[in-house]
This record gives sequence, C-alpha cells and structure tokens, in this order.
Amino acid sequence: MTLAPIALEPGLPDARGPLSMAVLELLTERAPRNYLHRVEAPVRDSDPYGIDVQLALYVCYELHYRGFAGVDPGWEWNPGLLYLRAQLEEAFLTAVQRDVGDITQEDSADTEMERLSVEPADGTGPSYYLRSTGTWEQMQEYFVHRSLYHLKEGDPHAWAIPRLTGQAKAAFVAVEFDEFGGGRGDHVHQQLFADLMVAAGLDATYMAYIDAVPAASMTVVNLMSLFGLHREHRGAAIGHFASTEITSSPGSRRLADALERLGAPDACLRFYREHVEADAVHEQVVRTDVVGDLVSREPALDRDVVFGIRAHELVEDRLADHLMRCWTSGRSSLRRPLD
Ligand SMILES: [Fe+2]
Ligand SMILES: [Fe+2]
Repeated sequence: MTLAPIALEPGLPDARGPLSMAVLELLTERAPRNYLHRVEAPVRDSDPYGIDVQLALYVCYELHYRGFAGVDPGWEWNPGLLYLRAQLEEAFLTAVQRDVGDITQEDSADTEMERLSVEPADGTGPSYYLRSTGTWEQMQEYFVHRSLYHLKEGDPHAWAIPRLTGQAKAAFVAVEFDEFGGGRGDHVHQQLFADLMVAAGLDATYMAYIDAVPAASMTVVNLMSLFGLHREHRGAAIGHFASTEITSSPGSRRLADALERLGAPDACLRFYREHVEADAVHEQVVRTDVVGDLVSREPALDRDVVFGIRAHELVEDRLADHLMRCWTSGRSSLRRPLD
C-alpha cells in the first residue's frame, strides 16, 4: 500500500493584515542571535477572533511543530517574536475567558464530562447536516477545515505529557499511543487523514489549505496550541483533550454515516470508523484515569479542566455556526472555494 505523502516543512501562508504581515516578513530574515529586538504590532486594535490575529498566532505556533521551509528555526525561541506572541495570546485568551463566562462552585470536571457524554436526540450542527442533507462538495469543505488539525492530530496535546505524573500520565500516553498509530506508521491518525484527503481528491500536504480557511478553523487549533505550550494551562489542556475524546465517537459515527450515504471512498470512511471505535474506549480512559486521577492529585486544577472543556465547545461552536451559516445559504464555507 502506498501512503499519502506528508511533506515535513510547509510553505509560508499569505498575510491577512498588519499582524500576520509583521510576523511573516520577519520570518524571511535570519533570527537575531545576540540582541533583543522587540517585535511591535498593533494587537490591541485587532479582533481577537479575526483572521489577522489568528493567522499571526498560527504561524508563531507552527514554529514549534514543523517550522516552515526556508525559515530560520532560530525564530522558535526568539524573545522578540515571543514578546509579540504573548500579546496575541493575551488578546485571544481574554476573549475566550469572557465568552466562556463564569465557572461556579457547583461546576466540576466530573459533572461537565457527564454532560458531554449525553448526546441530544435532536442535535444540530455540521455532522448532523452532513449526515442528512449535505453534498459531497460540502463534505470536501469539511475535510479542508479539519485538515489543519487532523494532519497534526495528537501533537498539540502531546505537550502535556511532561506536565502529568502517575496514572494520569500513563493513561494519557496510552490514548496518545493510539493516536500515533500504536507503533505503526501507516496507522498514525495524521496519516489516515492524509489518506482520506487523497481519496477525496484533495491536497494532503500539511497546511496546504491555510490560505483557504477562515479564522474560525485556525482558532480551533490555536486554542490547543495555547493550552499545550503553557504549563500553567495544563488543566485546560487536559480538559480540552477530554472534551475532544468524549465528543469524537458519536460525531465520527455521524460523519461515517454521511460518507456512506454519499458513497465516499473507503479511505474516507476508515478515518471516521477508526474514531468511532477507538474513542469510545478513549472516553472511559480519559474520564477516570486521566482527568479523575489528575484532579484527585491536584484538586486546584478541577476548574481549569472545566474551562478547557468549555473553551473547546466555544471554538467548535464558532466554527459550526460559520459552516451552517454558509451551507444553509448556499455559499462556500471557504475563503477560496475548491475548484
Ligand atoms: Fe485520532
Ligand atoms: Fe482518540
């Protein structure tokens, strides 16, 4: 079997405003080694969920994943660029905290996960829409939005590993082991998604569609990178991880049903079928052995886990609203529609 190729270092995207322009222009130069040059840009005047902030942040974070072809890897820890990134993160996180709202004394990780496990009988959103009425073109668009994450699936959460101990660490790594193919390169979920993209007639290159997707698609990934790259947000990172695992299995079931209805190639179905089965198991492990163990060890993190779960829901709802708004009015959900 030939695997879809995964290019290691992506190319730089196009700028979308003054912030992303400032970051992208910088990356064409060599990172200064011996002096501090603070990168200044007008973060305060920008929409924290807008394309300019989200793209600037996405590019800053990507330096920690694969970097970019032809870009000096020294930028990853350049204090001047980190100074700008910190301002972008502050603006983004403040907006997410405001929109998540208060977390009360009655809220707990346990009740929150219980709530997530109960699927509404009459749910709405992209996976329900695709299952009942969506077209193949809309399904392809869905793959494009999701390609940002699924081609790096498992990576943003992996930053949490050194920040866990004991049973929580063991169970977390057991779940990630499955995400990373259980020792088999052709089973790595990133690879399964690359295979899905090729089978769907799309470009499986890492970040191939960064210029085609709206801000809401980047926000979903930026949130995980933000939580993962800061130890102080480790509780939120684990809450986010729990939320993805708990909601994945039923969502993947609906998408597999949609693909069957549309007569999609088998490689497309394989990715979602894998998640129907694996994530039903992961959910149990995550609830008890990861989150349960973590909050019994560090009770102060309970609220952060709740915040991570709600922040995940918030950014997913924003993307879902965008998709549904576009699709139900007969428009493409992409900035640059597929040919
Ligand atoms: Fe996965
Ligand atoms: Fe999973």
